[in-house]
Amino acid sequence: MKNGKTYFWSMLQALALLPTMALKDSQMTTKKFSEEPEFERPIGNHTFFLGREAILGCAVTNLGKHKVGWLRAEDQTVLTMHERAVLGARYSVHMDAPRTWQLRIRPLRAEDRGCYMCQINTQPSMKWQIGCIDVYVPPDIMSDETSGDVSVQELENATLTCKATGHPPPKITWRREDHEPVLLKKPQSRDFDKVESYTGSSLPLWRVDRRQMGAFLCIAANDVPPAVSKRIILNVNFAPTVKVPNQLLGAPLGTDVKLKCYVEAHPNTINYWIKNRGEMLLDGPKYTITEEKVSYQVTMWLTIRQFSRSDIGTYNCVSTNSLGKSEGTLRLYEIKLNSYSEDFGNQISVAGGLTEAAKGGARLLRETLITLMLCFTFVYLA
Ligand SMILES: *[C@@H]1O[C@H](CO)[C@@H](O)[C@H](O)[C@H]1NC(C)=O
Ligand SMILES: *[C@@H]1O[C@H](CO)[C@@H](O)[C@H](O)[C@H]1NC(C)=O
Repeated sequence: MKNGKTYFWSMLQALALLPTMALKDSQMTTKKFSEEPEFERPIGNHTFFLGREAILGCAVTNLGKHKVGWLRAEDQTVLTMHERAVLGARYSVHMDAPRTWQLRIRPLRAEDRGCYMCQINTQPSMKWQIGCIDVYVPPDIMSDETSGDVSVQELENATLTCKATGHPPPKITWRREDHEPVLLKKPQSRDFDKVESYTGSSLPLWRVDRRQMGAFLCIAANDVPPAVSKRIILNVNFAPTVKVPNQLLGAPLGTDVKLKCYVEAHPNTINYWIKNRGEMLLDGPKYTITEEKVSYQVTMWLTIRQFSRSDIGTYNCVSTNSLGKSEGTLRLYEIKLNSYSEDFGNQISVAGGLTEAAKGGARLLRETLITLMLCFTFVYLA
């Protein structure tokens, strides 16, 4: 019986309210017809990513019997009429939000950048509002306008260039691939500014130095990931230069002697040793020939085994590349180490009765003399 009772009461209420409800409805109806459609809010300007979807919303109240259309503002091309698209599959209209005509463009192209008009076919004049979209495009390096690997002669000028497309326009940054600082010559100076990176489409290198050689990265970045980079190798070509740390080497007979030269060159060198301006030395039982290359620097070693009188003489480390040839000279002589030690030994024995401490002192003296002798060699060299 409870249900019946409820039903009765609601019927009664409905009957009582009926005249007012009807009145309200008629008021609303007259109001609706008397009012023109209005835009609820501006469309606004929006940014979207290339290849994704752009959505512009046009919210309208009191539309009544009118219809809403979307047009491309630039050329007034009609894209959608009321609830259907009229131009191509990339455009569609959605009513996901109440009273809002959503224009959707997908997949978005760069040429979709621009303004769009939402129009209501009111009479005598149409109502319209405009909103714009910007299409963000990730950076892309233009290979045609970007340097390939660059080779220059040392002290020539070089420019590394990198161009990239994208929207907003990408920023170009230069770094060294090995994370070493980028060396930029100071104006009117032989010194370098060391910078972690350089910003600009072209990296100007004035009177290029060998230390600037290496792999560079040009990195193009804007607000749209991912940033892109290109690797550009700068080759600095120059003829070999040879430096010899010890030009005069003394060694006792029977020992192994190691001769060393430093070479700087690019491109690659052919390096060899010659003896007494004659024969080229070959790696074998008598000689060990090795070299170690780090970038444009090569260390050459020649080890002479069992130094004998016939090994005394002049040695040259020779380095050649396509740009030239250079050599270093070393002179090898014998140190009569044994005769010295014998002399000292004799002296000590002649003196006789010396304490252990004194003997130690004599040994020290002998070592000091040898050191002095070697020092003399260096002074002589200098
Ligand atoms: C939207 O963008 C257009 C064109 O770029 C500009 O003229 C207009 O002032 C912008 N409107 C707003 C609200 O920023
Ligand atoms: C290198 O550039 C400087 C400055 O731009 C110029 O004065 C000089 O002549 C150029 N040198 C060469 C070898 O082109």
